Amino acid sequence: MDGLSIQSGQIVSVNKGGWDKSYGINHINEFNRAWLSLVREKINENATIWISGTVHNIFSVRQILIELGFKILNIITWEKNNPPPNFSYRYFTHSTEQVIWVKKNEKIPYYFNYELMKKINGNKQMKDVWKLPTIAPWEKSCGKHPTQKPLSLLIRLILASTKPNAWILDPFTGSSTTGIVANLINRQFIGIDQEESYLEISKNRKLEIESLQTAVDYRQKLVGFDHKKDLEQYLLEESSSNRDIQQNFNASHKIEQLSILFRVNNLNRLFLYD
Ligand SMILES: C[S@@+](CC[C@H](N)C(=O)[O-])C[C@H]1O[C@@H](n2cnc3c(N)ncnc32)[C@H](O)[C@@H]1O
Repeated sequence: MDGLSIQSGQIVSVNKGGWDKSYGINHINEFNRAWLSLVREKINENATIWISGTVHNIFSVRQILIELGFKILNIITWEKNNPPPNFSYRYFTHSTEQVIWVKKNEKIPYYFNYELMKKINGNKQMKDVWKLPTIAPWEKSCGKHPTQKPLSLLIRLILASTKPNAWILDPFTGSSTTGIVANLINRQFIGIDQEESYLEISKNRKLEIESLQTAVDYRQKLVGFDHKKDLEQYLLEESSSNRDIQQNFNASHKIEQLSILFRVNNLNRLFLYD
């Protein structure tokens, strides 16, 4: 179903894209089972996965994750500082999204940057409710994706769960917010999407941050750190203390793995950052 938004003071219909339309719960479950099985098969034993979703999909994702043997670590609630208003006046304003964090194997240790999360939360344990803004206009400089995520949300997820040089895969990459954050903080990225126009936005966003100055500006605009320079300082410390390469996703097999994703999901494009 199309959503409603407000533009220049007018209520307008927003077409979120064909992928966002629902074809019923059985279809949703089957789709989630297909892609999550594939991802499970291909990732390393110590890998973790983050999956965000709206109420239409997230309960199905949780059910299928458990069915496939993933271990749920957290369900993060992203509380939006500035959600769009509700126009029907018949229920509460939707102001949250859930992000499920899971690990593949219950018995294998995984990476969690507990200390950093605590540090950026005023030296108190980071909770599972994150107050962060929705996407800012400067993040749309390369075109509009209807459900583009804010960089500030992705940076927290990625810093919490990866080391420098880690490979990150987003099989529903859209405008590649995941990849932009990955590259802004020295991680490697593979993105997949079925829509060529979204990959075009992704490519332009990638070109944009190849300017060193733009990359620094963007890092300083990210919300969730006490001071503008905190992230730069942390990245310096991180690169000197982490000389090993972490690979959540087995990079030596990446092309072969992705070609499998191609067929099953009927994907028609692959986009690679490094
Ligand atoms: C919620 S959006 C991702 C937005 C992204 N996180 C961003 O910040 O731009 C989901 C994306 O998945 C893509 N998609 C949906 N079904 C797909 C499929 N079967 N195979 C590949 N991509 C698909 C859509 O084209 C859409 O761009």
